[in-house]
Amino acid sequence: MILAFETSCDETSVAVVNNGKVLSNELYSQIRHHKQYGGVVPELASRLHAEYIDIILRKALDAAAVDLNDISHIAVTVGPGLEGALLVGMMAANTLSQFLNIPIIPVNHLHGHIFAVKDEFELNFPAIVCLASGGHTMIVEMKDQFSFNLLANTMDDACGEAFDKVARMLDLGYPGGPKVEQLAKSGQLNVPLPHPVKSKSDVFSFSGLKTAVLTAIASEHQYSSDDVAASFQMRVADILAHKIQYFLNKNSYNQLVLCGGVFANQTIRTYLSKTLDIEDVSIPSLSLCTDNAAMIGLAAEMYLSHPKMPSLSFSCFPQLGLRYPGL
Ligand code: KG4
Ligand code: ZN
Repeated sequence: MILAFETSCDETSVAVVNNGKVLSNELYSQIRHHKQYGGVVPELASRLHAEYIDIILRKALDAAAVDLNDISHIAVTVGPGLEGALLVGMMAANTLSQFLNIPIIPVNHLHGHIFAVKDEFELNFPAIVCLASGGHTMIVEMKDQFSFNLLANTMDDACGEAFDKVARMLDLGYPGGPKVEQLAKSGQLNVPLPHPVKSKSDVFSFSGLKTAVLTAIASEHQYSSDDVAASFQMRVADILAHKIQYFLNKNSYNQLVLCGGVFANQTIRTYLSKTLDIEDVSIPSLSLCTDNAAMIGLAAEMYLSHPKMPSLSFSCFPQLGLRYPGL
């Protein structure tokens, strides 16, 4: 029975996971506090995590109908993420681990996004993973559950960040992804936008696409907001699909896993599932795509079979990348 904490960015989340089953996954979203600033304010995030973490912990235990004494392991995100925010979750997790005298499992947030898929699907190696969130855009090859071979990465902004910035350009507010998706529903694909670094297999780039959207909005064409949103969203879908297909053509994979906040986007989920040349496309359910603690618990369960369990640490790893914590 794993009690998991996630506080790497702007969601305070606690979950109880047992044998691949998510018994509870409680979350306090700080969005309304950060909204007025147009993005996440790190210091505010840390303070809000500290304020809400014990409330969310209580809710997670109640929703799972378990007691602290039923817990066998504590799992916590140790990076990548905002340093002050990560430390709040780690402090709570370390305290409980010592108080209850049970092991703590430090978890890589990116592994959490990937293993979120385990809630519904079995992993089938070799797998290829596309992770697109507010901080990362990567294609990763997994030959087994602990090998993370980075095939492509963004050279500038992350895909989700581009959604957030485009939403701001269109005055939709923060966070942008769901708002752009909503507006795109009534839009036409009539705004010409570039496909940056199309010929390079190992890099994504989203900063030029953001500029192109800004230029289109300011142009004499007077495109409507919903057309801009729809065209941008489809261009992102196309960029992700094109790069993934390149690797599918090059090597043989049993499974494609799509994960991270951007894959909460229904249009992008459907487009990639339909166009890519691979049968097994596994995507976590919508609520497990964006940040949550259940995915950290699911990753911790995988870590239990690793020969070297990472141990208690008081320092976090804001720039952890894809590394297994503790190695
Ligand atoms: O995975 P996540 O919750 O946090 C990070 O680890 O970054 O991803 C958040 C990102 C934000 O940039 C948000 O705009 C984007 O995912 N996102 C979406 C959607 N929902 C969230 N992007 C496109 N469409 C959505 N429906
Ligand atoms: Zn995340």
